[in-house]
Amino acid sequence: MKRPILIHPDPRLKKLCPPVDDLSDALRDLADDMLETMYDAPGIGLAAPQIGVLTRAIVLDCVKEERAEPRPLVMFNPQVVAVSDEMSTYEEGCLSIPDQYADVERPAQVKVAWIDRNGSAQEQEFDGLWATCVQHEIDHLDGKLFIDYLKPLRRQMITRKMQKLKRERARA
Ligand code: NI
Repeated sequence: MKRPILIHPDPRLKKLCPPVDDLSDALRDLADDMLETMYDAPGIGLAAPQIGVLTRAIVLDCVKEERAEPRPLVMFNPQVVAVSDEMSTYEEGCLSIPDQYADVERPAQVKVAWIDRNGSAQEQEFDGLWATCVQHEIDHLDGKLFIDYLKPLRRQMITRKMQKLKRERARA
């Protein structure tokens, strides 16, 4: 089931999310809803707090080519366990901050450990867009948005635009 995506500013997007205990059908349903919501948006990543669920769960799929097989990844309690010295810069966006994009510098490669939907521990290295996306989504679980990497003035400008957007949507 598709869920509504929270738009910044929202206090639920600023919370530290507690870890998942045991994998349950409820959490697997949550992951399915998150994937459906992400693909529908469309986006390449989504974190549980973006649909108002304060728990450490993210989904991503950075396959961009048309006709390519989708590669959905579901991660519970994801953790960056190693980062490269090399950095890379991507123009990032966020489904909670529609139509706003900005360059953010992050480690170019990361190793991530997580629990998969079956409750098994997984570990994998990511690079390119996948590395940026997984770091962006994990940030959400700590109440951090990509605009938090920008200069205060730019961040305030974007926040004001989002406040205006939310007022317009509330009136519609
Ligand atoms: Ni985001």
